Amino acid sequence: MMIESIKHRRSVRKFQEKPIEEEKLLEILEAARLAPSGNNKQPWVFIVIKNEENRKKVAQVTGEQLWIASAPVVIVAVADLSARSDRFEGQYLDEESPQFDLKRSIRDTAIAVEHILLEADNQGLGTCWCGAFRQKTIRPVLNIPDDKFVLAVIPLGYADEAPKARPRKDLETILRYERW
Ligand SMILES: Cc1cc2nc3c(=O)[nH]c(=O)nc-3n(C[C@H](O)[C@H](O)[C@H](O)COP(=O)(O)O)c2cc1C
Repeated sequence: MMIESIKHRRSVRKFQEKPIEEEKLLEILEAARLAPSGNNKQPWVFIVIKNEENRKKVAQVTGEQLWIASAPVVIVAVADLSARSDRFEGQYLDEESPQFDLKRSIRDTAIAVEHILLEADNQGLGTCWCGAFRQKTIRPVLNIPDDKFVLAVIPLGYADEAPKARPRKDLETILRYERW
């Protein structure tokens, strides 16, 4: 049950050495692969790191949180900015980019939205992450102050259709091993 997983999930910072079964890893990556995305662009790549040296290097540059490397697998999720539009080809975004901090609230809210979609499905309900609005237009309709950012409009209800699965990039396309 999805809600059980959502309730049960904790941030874990200590791991057994026991390796992860390949089928389980693939199922987890499959869940990521099937996530919804605007215009079905799937702007993501996942780097699977098993090599101990590489895990340690990543842990080191992740705030020297060396416990990270004690996990047998480290997955690095990468957003491809250019996947959304040619306009972003070669675009440079980092923590010093203007308004970068604002993007953190967007990231965190995105996690919560995905939880809604998952649990709705588990309750037998249909949802759709709708993003086809402009802040300027939707804010006044809902009395939303200018310093808030609308991330998603989510219709929720019992489905009256059974849409076919839409295509997803295959795992080979969105996976890297050890490095980009
Ligand atoms: C975007 C994001 C970044 C995070 N970064 C770290 C991190 O660098 N180190 C860490 O120990 N936990 C990190 N966490 C875990 C949060 O501290 C944790 O999700 C939060 O305290 C709630 O605890 P829970 O996940 O057990 O429910 C991060 C969580 C999110 C969503």
